[in-house]
Amino acid sequence: MQYLLFLTACAVALALLLPAATGLFHGSLQHEHWLETREKDHKSPKKQKVVPPLVLDTFQNPTLNDLGFWHGTGENLTVQHEPGLVRLFPTDPDQNFHTQFNTHGCFSLWPWQNQFLHVVFEGTDRFSVSLNEHNAECNPRRSPFPGISDSVEASRYTMRTTSGTVNEGGDADDEGEEDVDADTRGTALGSPSESRCQREKEKTQVPGQTQLYIPLSHFHIDQSRVVSVSFHGFYTNEPLTLRRVEIVPMVPPPSPANGHFRMPGKLPTGNLVLRCTRPNSFAFGIDDGQPQYAQEVKRILDEENVRATFFVVGAGLRDPSTNFTEFYRQMLREGHQVALHSNTHPKMEGLSTSGEIDDEIIKTKEVFKDKLNVESSYFRPPFGTVGARMRQRLAQHIPNPFIVNWSVDVEDWIWANTTTPEKQLDAFYQGVARGGNIAVMHFLNPTTVRYLPQFIRHVRSAGLQIMRIDQCVQSP
Ligand SMILES: *[C@@H]1O[C@H](CO)[C@@H](O)[C@H](O)[C@H]1NC(C)=O
Ligand SMILES: *[C@@H]1O[C@H](CO)[C@@H](O)[C@H](O)[C@H]1NC(C)=O
Ligand SMILES: *[C@@H]1O[C@H](CO)[C@@H](O)[C@H](O)[C@H]1NC(C)=O
Ligand SMILES: [Zn+2]
Repeated sequence: MQYLLFLTACAVALALLLPAATGLFHGSLQHEHWLETREKDHKSPKKQKVVPPLVLDTFQNPTLNDLGFWHGTGENLTVQHEPGLVRLFPTDPDQNFHTQFNTHGCFSLWPWQNQFLHVVFEGTDRFSVSLNEHNAECNPRRSPFPGISDSVEASRYTMRTTSGTVNEGGDADDEGEEDVDADTRGTALGSPSESRCQREKEKTQVPGQTQLYIPLSHFHIDQSRVVSVSFHGFYTNEPLTLRRVEIVPMVPPPSPANGHFRMPGKLPTGNLVLRCTRPNSFAFGIDDGQPQYAQEVKRILDEENVRATFFVVGAGLRDPSTNFTEFYRQMLREGHQVALHSNTHPKMEGLSTSGEIDDEIIKTKEVFKDKLNVESSYFRPPFGTVGARMRQRLAQHIPNPFIVNWSVDVEDWIWANTTTPEKQLDAFYQGVARGGNIAVMHFLNPTTVRYLPQFIRHVRSAGLQIMRIDQCVQSP
């Protein structure tokens, strides 16, 4: 349906005639449940104004995008810049490239709300694209920064354009397509008056190029305060060349030249949690540990009268030599939360098939049910590695899951085994000072365990009440 509408109004000038165009998009997208809710929540602020096209990045400059704000990568991703493109050589799903809408504050995408993120690229499509929310203060010195994000799987939105030769049956094979809500798909076209427009459009599509068109409505974040678009979650070592990132008002209609591209439906991605929402609350999320420190952790939590959330790796529960089944049963009886942390602790987004991701989820659910009689919808991704496929698979197996990262990092993985273990205290205090209120720590090392009473007292002296994560993300 939407394609017909786009087409009827095919003139490029339409992009500039947004009052009319916006009406069409409202009509065409109104089956999207989320969008409907969003529109109810935010009664149209007056009539839509004409919005200019938003070209975020054409990679002319090594460090700045077309809006004059930063683009770049975490230290470990090898990047080659040439005027007009950036080439990424990923080796890890945590590597990322961000291009920012604003460096100093928040940017509102509301004026473009029914439009599409358009990315022109070459190379692999085995990665995630995320739209990243800023934090509540719109301040990069507050924690977490960025705030939450929502992600889509690039391969589901990839449009490949051929040189115009008819390419029947070129529908991209898409494992998610059967899950797609039929109402959000385009319909095949045929009217002769439309094909002229189509030819016009195709002139702007360079043969052999790959493009992504993603409805902004597929990113379930607060789009009144975004900070960046990012490319990450690589599950390949093949390079990716980015050429253009922009927001556009319409998507080319399905045609032989674009492999009959159909817009996929949004797949659920759960709730990403980085902070407690309950006022003045704080939560400790305690991940994997060494069995020999378990009783000491329990003794400290008892003594301080603190309830925590433990994220537990399935494989450890199956191994009787760890005594973890007994330990976590007792923690559950005493009012702690015990939640999921995968079966074998891989970077799940980096696994090459969805089957392997499923396996991690299914096996850990099974052992939780078997050994602890727990069905948890709280999950902490190993290494904090988050991407579209992991989130989508999790949401397939666990309805509306909470995917819990953190906003305070004890950094035990950096400092615990060094000659300056007290840097864990500094890291913790700094996270709290920046407004973080969900901590990550492990009990792999005696120094981390030894500092736990000081962490607890510090939080209390800041006037915060300590509770489990399932309690702190609920409204009182
Ligand atoms: C960077 O890569 C090195 C070597 O692969 C790895 O040991 C290190 O943990 C990585 N650092 C980050 C921040 O990802
Ligand atoms: C196993 O854990 C239980 C529960 O915490 C504890 O009572 C018991 O002493 C532990 N056994 C060993 C051998 O550590
Ligand atoms: C989760 O935490 C990890 C580790 O700090 C970080 O690299 C990652 O970006 C976070 N992911 C999200 C979606 O916040
Ligand atoms: Zn872990």
